[in-house]
Parts: sequence; C-alpha cells; structure tokens
Amino acid sequence: MSAKVGNFAVKVIGMNKEICHGIYSVGVDDPDLAKFENQYPLTSGVSYNSYVVCGGDKTALLDSVDRRCTGQWLERVAAAAPQGVDYLIVLHMEPDHSASIADFMTRYPGAVIVASAPALKILGQFFPEVDFAGKTLAVGDGDSLQLGSETLTFYGAPMIHWPEVMVAYHPASGTVFSADAFGTFGTDSAADWAPEARRYYSNIVGKYGSQTQKLLAKIAALPSVGRICPLHGPVLSGEVLARAMKLYDLWSRYEPEEPQGVLVAYASIYGNTAEVALNAARQIEARGVKAAAIDLCSRDVSFAVGEAFRFGRIICASPTYDAGLFPAMHDFLYHLQIKGVRNRRFGLIENGSWAPNAARFMSAMIGQLKSCEVVGPTVTLRSTANATTADVLGQLVDNILNSAE
Ligand SMILES: Cc1cc2nc3c(=O)[nH]c(=O)nc-3n(C[C@H](O)[C@H](O)[C@H](O)COP(=O)(O)O)c2cc1C
Ligand SMILES: [Fe+2]
Ligand SMILES: [Fe+2]
Repeated sequence: MSAKVGNFAVKVIGMNKEICHGIYSVGVDDPDLAKFENQYPLTSGVSYNSYVVCGGDKTALLDSVDRRCTGQWLERVAAAAPQGVDYLIVLHMEPDHSASIADFMTRYPGAVIVASAPALKILGQFFPEVDFAGKTLAVGDGDSLQLGSETLTFYGAPMIHWPEVMVAYHPASGTVFSADAFGTFGTDSAADWAPEARRYYSNIVGKYGSQTQKLLAKIAALPSVGRICPLHGPVLSGEVLARAMKLYDLWSRYEPEEPQGVLVAYASIYGNTAEVALNAARQIEARGVKAAAIDLCSRDVSFAVGEAFRFGRIICASPTYDAGLFPAMHDFLYHLQIKGVRNRRFGLIENGSWAPNAARFMSAMIGQLKSCEVVGPTVTLRSTANATTADVLGQLVDNILNSAE
C-alpha cells in the first residue's frame, strides 16, 4: 500500500508510514483543531509529526505530540517499534511536541530522553511531578548518538522557534529532522505546500530570520540532504524540498518572493475606504502587476502577515478612528513590527470625516520597520472618493509601481 506525502511516495505499514528504510512516521493528524497556538485559524487542522528511527541495536523516537493526541500516538509508536524505544529525542519543548512525554515515560520507563541542556531545564518545568533523574542525556551542537550501525547528529537551531531547539541529521538516509522549521499548517498532504508554509513561517518563525539563516547554513554544510522531516506538515523531498529551501532563504532574509507585487491591506467601517483600496488593487492588476487585496476586518491578520512576506510593496488603507488608527490596521502594522518585516515600500490611503489623520499613525509605525519607506502621495479621503482623490490615487499607484525595489 502506498500514499503521497507532499511529492514523496511512502509505504503505509498498518497506520504508520515507512518514509525510507528504517524510518517510520508515527505522527498524528489533528484535523479538528480550530486555532494553532490558540490564535492562528486553521482550515484543516494541523499535524504533530513524530518519527521512529530503527538503527540496528537501538531505536530512537523523535518528539512526542500534543496532549490532544497522546493515546493515538502511543498506539502508533507501539506498532512501528514493537522492539521498544531506547531514546526519546526531544528537539523542541513546546507543548505541541512535548505534552505527551510523561505518558511516554510511564509506558517506556527504560527509555532515555535526549535533548539540549536548555530543553532538559524546560522539561523539568513542564513536568515538576516526574522524576527524570538518570533518564536524560544532554547533547549539544555537533554531538552524535549511536543507534548501533547508524547515528543521529544534533545541531542547535535556537529560536526556531524556542531557544532550546535542535535539529537532527541521519547521515545514512540523508534525512534532516528539522523541528518546527519547514513546518506548515493543515493535514491535507495534497495541498500546495507554499501558501500555508508561508503563513506558518512568517507568523511563527518570522522574527528569527538571522537564526533561520544560520540553520540553512548548517543544513547546506551537511554532506547530503535528500529529505526534510518537520514537526508539522508533509515530509519534503525532491522538487518540493528544493523550492522550500529557496523560499526559506528568501523569507529569512526578509526578501519578497514577488518584489514588484503589491499587497493592498485595508480596513473599513462603512466600505468607502475598502472601495478605494480595491480600486487601487484593480489599477495595479490592470498594469499587469500581481496584487492581493486583504480585508483586515474579515480575514485573520496572520494571512496578511504571510502576504507581507510575499510581496515587495504594501498599500495600507485605513479610516481615522477616535483621532487615531482603526484597530484592525493598528494590529496589522503591530504584527509587521513584531515579526521584523523589512525591505518594503509602502503607500498610504487614509479616511476621516472631520479630521483624517490615520496616515500619520501608519507612517509612524512603518517608520519603526527596518529599511522600509513610504512612497507618496498619501491619498486622503474625506468620507468617500471624489475626482481629486481619484487623481491622487492614480499618482500613488504610479509611484509605488515605479519605486525602487
Ligand atoms: C467610532 C468612530 C470614530 C471615528 N473617529 C474619527 C476621527 O477621530 N476623526 C475622523 O476624521 N473621523 C472619524 N471617524 C469617521 C470615519 O473615519 C469616517 O466616517 C470614514 O469615512 C469611514 O470610512 P469607511 O467608510 O471606510 O468606514 C470615526 C468613525 C467612527 C465610527
Ligand atoms: Fe514550536
Ligand atoms: Fe510546533
């Protein structure tokens, strides 16, 4: 029996998939989870991946799963590793991957937990009632674990996306177990990897571009990498892996995938600002340039953050609200700040029925982003569009499309 994970054909053994000789995927899908980290809306849930590596003498298991799926996961582990598990490798201590550790230790009392020193400290914090004495092994950057004829080598990947994170390399199969890096939302393995992986990266790892660059350099220095096994989403190999590596390089350098393209992010109470924002998007597309319009009042901000990582240009359109910025726009720009977005050109559309000043607040927030500039003229609507504002909008569209990348 076989199935597709990404573009990678895998054997299904019972409920477990043999990814390659001796490596089994024993993770669990959580298709009904509504929000990841209780904030990012999901359309088909998320997977908590977990892998069994049979190394001859010893068997390792990489990462546990969210507490929502503990029972199912333990069944899958038992089916894939009837010989038992010698090592539970904890690459990341965030509870979506660590919550089932105590139950695992009850089931496998002879197993040793292998993790970075900071991970072992966090382990004790999450499980104060468990005595891990004599059952842990701390490993650092470059350390290896012998499983018999095969080895796993560990590399630090701090802040992707907690400080204790490591990735593991299995030279025998050219597999990198990448923790949260290269993860994505969703449980539909036939879906295009990039859109949700972009939303996942930008919102979850986005702030840590320089650390991601360091991880990419470590991966590039490995003798051969044919497969990446992340903790969420499909196993990556072949063309999908090559594309993912390119996208990760762009995203972590805060370089847009579409340097010319424009994100039009708008907020609107009564629809007047929205109309002008959509008009701007139509004009841009009429010039043959890609534009994506996102209504910040109806779509979750994480989608807009993802598109801000994709496009080189961003038009922000907002009403004035209580002498300030409309909250949905404030939230969007705040997210760009905390995710470290940089190297973008912005254009501004503001609205106000008596004292419009949203643009001043948008400019101030954009001014806090590295290597970002506001391209004029600002379009100021006084309630709704008119012939004058239509002219100014045309100039803004011209200027933003002609602005240097
Ligand atoms: C609660 C509230 C507060 C507002 N505060 C201001 C304000 O401080 N200054 C201003 O010029 N307009 C203010 N406005 C008016 C809107 O900015 C204005 O009507 C705008 O045209 C709305 O654009 P829209 O049709 O895109 O929602 C406020 C509107 C509301 C509902
Ligand atoms: Fe995480
Ligand atoms: Fe995770």
